[in-house]
Amino acid sequence: MAKENILIVDDDKNMLEVLSLRLEAEGYTVTATAGVQDALKRVENRLFDLALVDLKLAGPENGIDLMEKMHQAAPEMPVIILTAYGTINTAVEAMKRGAYSYLTKPFNRRELLLQIKNGLERSSLSREVRRLKALVGERYGFENIIGKSRKMQGVMEQVARAAETDSNVCIHGESGTGKELIAKSLHLLSSRKNGPFVAVNCAAIPEGLQEGELFGYEKGAFTGAHRNKRGFFSQAHGGTLFLDEVSEMSESMQVKLLRVLQEKQFYPLGGEKPTDVDVRILTATNKNPEDEVKSGKFREDLFYRIYVIPIHLPPLRERKEDIPLLVDHFLNKFSKKMKKGIKELSTPALQRLLAHSWPGNVRELENTIEYAVAMAVQEVIGEDLILQTRAPEEERLRPLKEAKNQFERSYLSDILSLSGGNVSKAAKLAGKYRADFYALMKKHDLNLSAFKKAK
Ligand SMILES: Nc1ncnc2c1ncn2[C@@H]1O[C@H](COP(=O)(O)OP(=O)(O)OP(=O)(O)O)[C@@H](O)[C@H]1O
Ligand SMILES: [Mg+2]
Repeated sequence: MAKENILIVDDDKNMLEVLSLRLEAEGYTVTATAGVQDALKRVENRLFDLALVDLKLAGPENGIDLMEKMHQAAPEMPVIILTAYGTINTAVEAMKRGAYSYLTKPFNRRELLLQIKNGLERSSLSREVRRLKALVGERYGFENIIGKSRKMQGVMEQVARAAETDSNVCIHGESGTGKELIAKSLHLLSSRKNGPFVAVNCAAIPEGLQEGELFGYEKGAFTGAHRNKRGFFSQAHGGTLFLDEVSEMSESMQVKLLRVLQEKQFYPLGGEKPTDVDVRILTATNKNPEDEVKSGKFREDLFYRIYVIPIHLPPLRERKEDIPLLVDHFLNKFSKKMKKGIKELSTPALQRLLAHSWPGNVRELENTIEYAVAMAVQEVIGEDLILQTRAPEEERLRPLKEAKNQFERSYLSDILSLSGGNVSKAAKLAGKYRADFYALMKKHDLNLSAFKKAK
């Protein structure tokens, strides 16, 4: 296992030396510094697994202030504060402001090593948890891809076969058909599953920033490059890089991408030495890749590199038999999420879904069900909640008089239902004379027989 990197900050040179020797003897890689600015710079430039920071430092800032600044660059690095005199107050303040723990000098060796060991465990744990969460925030195996239609079964078979190889895969399909979901599943089914899965939306990064984002940069490469930055390629090393909307990549980026694919190495912006990289490239596009090549928008040589295994995702209107299954899946998901006991759709509601052409594909269906579940007051969702254009703002904001009127009518109607059509009772509940109540009923054209309970 790689040695863990520990940073020690203390203005007492003797202390620095003693601590460094002790920790190096335990097999840690130690960086020791007395300067606040120097410590900050180091944290910005590399990843430390833990820091020991003395509370009292030369200069206006104390160790807790320094810790806060370090946490801006490395929010998850555990910091242990060293204090000369264990006043409870400073210790409590340190913890409140984000310290992992504190040690009171003089500390004994066992205590020191134990705290460090625990801190490091948390550090690697939180990194692992973050990685796993990012990947399986939802579970993306095949179990999360819904689709019994022949077309989707075909897609899953292709995915399974592609996952056994290390070839580049291009997924194309209309917007919302599940391209990203398929890409994640492919990664999880492949031998790279324990490596990172990094998704990049090429259309979302402005052209001028693409190179820096993909390949990283070194400090000083351009104004604003205050520290080294790892690009998406480095982050995906050993795993899978998913380039979404790849056809939006600029011409010059296409050339650079091609070079990485050919040479398996790249230069970070401002870097002298090439970085080796081992990634599998998955791409997605909602355009027809062949058309993009023909029209000259996409380089042919790059196309052949990334289009080794094409997977086409059919639009939802070509696999309507999947709609009921998808509906169940999303009903379950949102019902659980919103803590509602929604069981199913009424038959007319489902018919309405089947008749729709779904230009936004599965994402549109997902949003439709989310809306219906949010609005539903009964266990079964009726067609009134499905694909109705929602009331425009000005319709819902009516004049006060109209709103009052509508309230009055529904109030009277509720009270009549409660009293089973008994006007004397209803009038009493409403605190009105019987005659006045009658007048109100007349005003709203309420018919008494509608409320009488069937005998
Ligand atoms: N077969 C499926 N089973 C379950 N959920 C699906 C399926 N296909 C798509 N989804 C869901 O639909 C939504 C849209 O899917 P995704 O983001 O993968 O589509 P996309 O093709 O990448 O869309 P875009 O082109 O807009 O980026 C997601 O929430 C995804 O989980
Ligand atoms: Mg997508």
